[in-house]
Parts: sequence; structure tokens; C-alpha cells
Amino acid sequence: YLARRTPSTGASYLTRRGFASDSAPVRKVAILGAAGGIGQPLSLLMKLNPLVSRLALYDISGTPGVAADVSHINTRSEVLGFAGEEQLEKALKGADVVIIPAGVPRKPGMTRDDLFNINAGIVKSLCGAVAKYCPHALVNVISNPVNSTVPIASEVFKKAGTYDEKRLFGVTTLDVVRAKTFYAGKAKVNVADVNVPVVGGHAGVTILPLFSQATSSANLANEEIEALTKRTQDGGTEVVEAKAGKGSATLSMAYAGAIFADACLKGLNGVPDVVECSFVQSTVTDLPFFASKVRLGKNGVEEVLGLGALSDYEKQGLEALKPELKSSIEKGIKFANA
Ligand code: NAD
Ligand code: LMR
Repeated sequence: YLARRTPSTGASYLTRRGFASDSAPVRKVAILGAAGGIGQPLSLLMKLNPLVSRLALYDISGTPGVAADVSHINTRSEVLGFAGEEQLEKALKGADVVIIPAGVPRKPGMTRDDLFNINAGIVKSLCGAVAKYCPHALVNVISNPVNSTVPIASEVFKKAGTYDEKRLFGVTTLDVVRAKTFYAGKAKVNVADVNVPVVGGHAGVTILPLFSQATSSANLANEEIEALTKRTQDGGTEVVEAKAGKGSATLSMAYAGAIFADACLKGLNGVPDVVECSFVQSTVTDLPFFASKVRLGKNGVEEVLGLGALSDYEKQGLEALKPELKSSIEKGIKFANA
């Protein structure tokens, strides 16, 4: 979105100087885990977003420095850093959107599910605080395993009596970002014109890119589609291996997280036809949570869109992903209720 032109001014966010127009509504965004590998560049990108008027950066430590640094950027939002649980209430109070990249990342050889033992508890406790201090916020869960952490969040909110399925999102935008990049490279089309829905979940085979619906269309051979599908499913692992023990995707994730949060803000602000893929409560399949295209609006999810026509290869992929996705969802629900 950084490269996209804004209709009103024709200026990109990066080149625009000074402050956003007075007409943009007041919007507070809180980032939990803001001092981390994703958190820091995501804080930067959200500081560049003119839809944000207040940016609260929370982590267990390190956020005063990140906040001081980012706050010197001459864009609209006021930036405040909060460190330690005793400051969580202040970080969350009044938030319209809460983005959660808190938790440990993978090392080579690990699956996202291997992060469950640590990250499930982190997401559970942070969502408990969201339920208490900003129950109406849109919650963007980035922490892995997303296929389980989103169901955990839903259970925490249900127990607190604050659950609204329209306001809870698992961030799967990075899968879409990757699918677009890989497809454009293979199809030799302009990446800026490419869109590819990615459905299912956010781990291995549960990530199902729908290249049959890709725009701009290209006549790729079946083997090419299969290779692109596999690369999209393994995109996270590709980065984990390249980083060789120093974590997983952070910069591309920050970009993806900023796109998704921007879409949430646009929806809240009443911009029509804001559609992104996200892992949400769903009736698109027989699974209670599923990633698909979602129309965003003033209350969060306005409409969960269906899958559209699938190729035979995608139909097989859909059936193949269900058992793993089902068990990851159930694992999250069981943990939250234990
Ligand atoms: P990181 O270790 O660099 O940063 C995580 C941050 O979370 C740290 O600053 C840490 O202090 C903080 N943290 C830990 N417990 C916390 C708590 N209770 N409250 C607040 N902050 C807390 O890790 P990272 O590379 O930024 O990745 C973070 C998470 O995002 C991982 O679980 C990773 O797997 C996930 N991730 C998801 C996607 C996706 O597509 N959804 C993509 C990339 C990474
Ligand atoms: C990703 O897709 O990059 C993230 O889920 C991080 C990971 O562990 O692969």
C-alpha cells in the first residue's frame, strides 16, 4: 500500500510531508510485541499511516526506545511506549485496532505448532487484557500458530462475555503477499496488477492459494501452478531456513501486517469495498474458522466471502487441509478452556 497512490492527493504515504487531513477520524492503534522483529518495522509502517492518530507500542521491555525513535517521524500520529504488564491497560485503553505480534518465532526444523506451548499462553493473557480494556477493538492476531491462536482468542473473549466474531482476525496477509510475488515472477506480469486469494489457514498445507482465480490471468502449466502452491505453503520455512536460527519473516510480515491493519482502519472509516483475506470465524466450510476473502466495514467483518470456483487441484487441496486445520483449531479451543 505504500506504493499505492492516495486518491485525494496523489501522493504516496512515503513522500507525503506533514500531517494528514483534519477530516480523518481519530483512530488509536496498539501493537503488542512492538519491540520485536515484526513489532519494530510494523510500528514504523503504522507511524507512516495517515489514518492513525495515536500509536501505542507495548512490549514486556524495550518499547520506550522504539517509541522515542518512531515518534520523531513527522507524520500525524502521537506515539507512546508502554513496557511491562502494569502499563498494558494504558496501552490498550481506547484502541480501535490491536495488532498482536507478541511471541516466539520458529527456528529451522520447527513447525509453527512447535510454538504453541509458549505462544498460546502469551496470546491468552494479552487477549484477556483486550477483553478488559478495549473490548470493542478489532484484534489482528499475528502470533503463531495462527490456526490455534485465533481460536484461543475467541474462547478468551467468549469467557469474558465480549466475543464478537466480526472483530477477530488471524493475519494471513503474508500468504497473499507471497502468492502475488511468486505468481508475478512466474507469469511475467506486473506484480502491482496481481491479486491471488489465499484460503484455509496459516501453516503448511493449510495455506491454499487459489491461482485459478489469479489476476492478471496467465496460462501457466499444471506443474507450474503446483510449484507455486508449494512455494507459497513453504514461504515461511524458506525465510526461517535462510535466517538460519535468527528467527522468521519480520520485514515482509510487518509489510503484510500494515496492509491488513490499514484495511481494518479503512473499513472502520466507512471506505467501501475493502476486501482482504483473513482467518476468521466462518461458515464457508464445515470448520469453525477459515481464511477466505473478507469484506471489512464499520464493525469489522461485514461479509465473509465464499471460495468462488476452484480447480480440481484446489478442490483436492481444500479436502487435504481440513484434518490438520480442524485439529489445530480444536487444540486452541481445548487449551483456552483448560
Ligand atoms: P520476536 O521474538 O522478534 O518478537 C516478539 C516480541 O514479542 C518480543 O519483543 C517479545 O518481548 C514480545 N513478547 C513476548 N511475550 C510478550 C507479552 N506477554 N506481551 C507483550 N510482548 C511480548 O518475534 P517476531 O519475529 O516478531 O515474531 C513474533 C510472532 O509472529 C511469532 O510467533 C511468529 O511465528 C509470528 N509470525 C507470524 C506471521 C504470520 O503470517 N501470521 C509471520 C511471521 C511471524
Ligand atoms: C511466516 O509465514 O513467515 C510466519 O508464519 C513465520 C513462520 O514461522 O514461518
